[in-house]
Amino acid sequence: MTVMHNHESVLADGAVFFIFGATGDLARRKLFPAIYSLYREGKLGERFAVIGLARRPRTQEQFREDVRASIDEFCRYDVQKDEDWGSFAKHFEYKPLDINNVDGFRELKEQTEHIEREFGIPGNRLFYLALAPDLFGSVSYNLRDGGLLDGTGWHRLVIEKPFGYDLPSAQKLNHELSGVFKEEEIYRIDHYLGKEMVQNIEVLRFANAFFEPLWNNKHIANIQISLAETVGVEERGGYYDQAGALRDMAQNHMLQMLTMIAMEPPSRLHPEDIRDEKVKVLRSLRQYRSMDEVHRNVVRGQYSAGVLNGKSLPGYREEEKVNPASVTETYFGARVFVDNFRWAGVPFYIRTGKRLPVKTTEVVVEFKSMPTNVYLGQKHNLEPNLLVIRVNPMEGIYVRINGKKPGSEGGIQPLAMDFCQSNMVGINTPEAYERLIFDAARGDSTYFTRWDEVASAWSFVDLIAEVWGESDKDLQLYPAGSWGPKQADELLEQDGFHWWPVNGQDESEVVWAK
Ligand code: BG6
Repeated sequence: MTVMHNHESVLADGAVFFIFGATGDLARRKLFPAIYSLYREGKLGERFAVIGLARRPRTQEQFREDVRASIDEFCRYDVQKDEDWGSFAKHFEYKPLDINNVDGFRELKEQTEHIEREFGIPGNRLFYLALAPDLFGSVSYNLRDGGLLDGTGWHRLVIEKPFGYDLPSAQKLNHELSGVFKEEEIYRIDHYLGKEMVQNIEVLRFANAFFEPLWNNKHIANIQISLAETVGVEERGGYYDQAGALRDMAQNHMLQMLTMIAMEPPSRLHPEDIRDEKVKVLRSLRQYRSMDEVHRNVVRGQYSAGVLNGKSLPGYREEEKVNPASVTETYFGARVFVDNFRWAGVPFYIRTGKRLPVKTTEVVVEFKSMPTNVYLGQKHNLEPNLLVIRVNPMEGIYVRINGKKPGSEGGIQPLAMDFCQSNMVGINTPEAYERLIFDAARGDSTYFTRWDEVASAWSFVDLIAEVWGESDKDLQLYPAGSWGPKQADELLEQDGFHWWPVNGQDESEVVWAK
């Protein structure tokens, strides 16, 4: 097997990874494949072990087979030879565990110490809770009471969203965790922060003379962030009907992307300095408190039956495990302001929805137009310059400028310079989870959310959720397969703007340089 060795980024002292929820979907789809990719790239070295934990009885062999099946199905690397598989699989162990029973944790401690001796790991332990958040508290207490946090190495807790349902429940959860772990030991995952192009936002902004001097309200007219999905709620109706798009996507992924776009340059490229700047953005968000403010700035939609890619689809209320009278939003759109000196007056339009026509995440930065009363502006209807950051599934950026139409007498046309990162690195771009697991194991918390960020994001979201309440006021139905309620278009039209087509679609007038 080709295990690539890049010594600068190898997990030097090794660690034991505890995967709670090891028989679940996240472990199968994301975590095991990510660990295998890291191994193949030589980033884990040989001093590591993975202990899978779940309630269900599984033998060692069955567990290793599950891991192999998950890698065969979801990993970007193939397992080629059986002996290669053997050298990887020997790092995996399974233990059935009742997470409410501390005795099981005591046994786990013994088992761990044995494994650590076997692989020469000096007590570094990473606890990954791929579990429902209401179990985080018990697991943390039992890790402590079972003795797993004693000893010499480092201990880190990695947890998945949702971090609470609102600010009070998030505070309660945080209180439980902080009774056991220090803030710097808690790694809250927002998998959008693990995406290549989200991490690239900092580089584009701070490493380019083209952009940073213009990155403010003097030159930027508006910023549009779209997180569109074609999927409905799939088999997650039970969870989703309680959450909705505001809590499921906006509170975390969307606001996190917004902070990356809007933050001030950090004083150093250190995790705490970066997170200090991000939280300032969240604190500067204009909060919508009254019915009228929410009504004017926020759009709440739910999909009804419709057609997507020629397929008839049911409405949200007909989905499994969804209340047939549900008022949960599957679309959230808003005009948001960051009330600080850099962004005063610049609208950020954000939208996310299920059952939209395409799966795409994109950020569009629309620059202010040239003056219309002088020179070319007098004669032509000049298009604004755009910087578009494509986050997924295609990764890349494009910049749209104006140029002379060749051969014409003074004609002007928009030209797009398109850089497709996906074409460069192919489908083999590392998965968000690979980066995040590796960062947590190296102790780099830059792309994890700190408690004060989470709390500020909830403060913004809670006010909107409170105004909506249980009523269906403002809830707009949109057919599955459409771009959501027309009110989301009106938000921009009121300000003299429009949503730019995603994926460069419908831009027939634009000349694309590839
Ligand atoms: C998750 C949400 O956090 O992100 C899902 O709970 C959503 O509802 C998913 O589908 C989208 O992630 P991605 O990486 O596919 O854009």
